Amino acid sequence: MSNIKNGRWLVKSYPEDEVSVDNFELVYDEVPEPGEGEILIQTTSLVMSPPLRMAIGTGGITGNRVKLGAMMRGSGQGVVVKSRHPGFTEGDRVAGAMGWQEYAVTDGERPFPLEKISPKAGQPITANLHVMGASGATAYVGLYDIAKPKVGDVILVSAAAGSVGALVCQLGKISGCRVIGIAGNEKKCRWLKDDLGLSEVINYKTENVAERLREVCPNGIDIYFDNVGGEILDTALGQIAHGARIVLCGATSQYEGDANWYGPSNYFNLVYKEATMQGFYIFSYAHRFKEAHRRLGELIANGNLVYNEDVLKGVENLPAGLIRVLSGENFGTQLVRLS
Ligand SMILES: NC(=O)c1ccc[n+]([C@@H]2O[C@H](COP(=O)([O-])OP(=O)(O)OC[C@H]3O[C@@H](n4cnc5c(N)ncnc54)[C@H](OP(=O)(O)O)[C@@H]3O)[C@@H](O)[C@H]2O)c1
Repeated sequence: MSNIKNGRWLVKSYPEDEVSVDNFELVYDEVPEPGEGEILIQTTSLVMSPPLRMAIGTGGITGNRVKLGAMMRGSGQGVVVKSRHPGFTEGDRVAGAMGWQEYAVTDGERPFPLEKISPKAGQPITANLHVMGASGATAYVGLYDIAKPKVGDVILVSAAAGSVGALVCQLGKISGCRVIGIAGNEKKCRWLKDDLGLSEVINYKTENVAERLREVCPNGIDIYFDNVGGEILDTALGQIAHGARIVLCGATSQYEGDANWYGPSNYFNLVYKEATMQGFYIFSYAHRFKEAHRRLGELIANGNLVYNEDVLKGVENLPAGLIRVLSGENFGTQLVRLS
């Protein structure tokens, strides 16, 4: 392995607003050797999710941002290429938070825990990075545990063609609700309407969202599944129905700003409409993952649930992958395949 190097992305500077490739630096180091009780894994794919932006901004849920000069955070999958650990053998497929690098050493717990994975029939192994992983659980728990849909409810979903959003849209329809999607380009809007069969789709970049909501749901929104925060959240609050449930899942429109997050001015509608607005953090719902993934797996197997993977290739494209999810260029889950 001596002439093979380990490509790793370090954080060079913190972005003031929109992240750029210049905020990172690609370095090539020696591939690390696993010590006694350790495993060397080769990263196969990393998943790009919008909150990664907070790792070089506000710090996210922990408040800890990646230090300058340190390797960028990230989660993905790999294959064990050397093992000096009794629980792992060469060729095992694994998942973990190995960071933006091609090779990583861990003892299975530190510096990051590893989980063994295997492909499910009829799905790529990368499905564990979205529909059979965090995005799937987030869509399922956010909809069924937080929003609790009833047949006939009107559900509004933002970032509706995204990794989480597209699953929420489909689960909402399967649950007998009328689903309205918001997305940022024509290709996504067409797919939501033609392929997923949503009753209405709003392109927030070319249409007036408030006007369109008054037009397509004059009696109000029963559930708003919010993936983006900011102005769209505010506009949705202006059109809620009595007893509405607003699920705060994410705020992608705000992650590029390190201060002065947009606060909704229509929040008092929660009082007039006796509505609730609740956030949730998916890793507090680990006990629900098994049911969520079993149900999502059944729906996929029966041809009732679809998902898109948007794949870039090569370690050099990791920053580009992050930029794509923050600018809306991704169509489905953004993956970067390393090997
Ligand atoms: N609560 C939890 O535990 C939890 C767990 C996982 C994910 N999440 C959240 O779920 C959300 C979706 O994540 P994902 O992985 O499924 O990402 P995604 O939807 O696949 O990708 C992000 C999408 O956000 C939209 N977007 C970007 N900038 C925007 C802006 N300024 N205004 C409006 N929309 C914008 C873009 O779609 P358009 O082209 O349509 O604009 C982009 O494609 C994120 O906010 C994430 O933080 C929360």
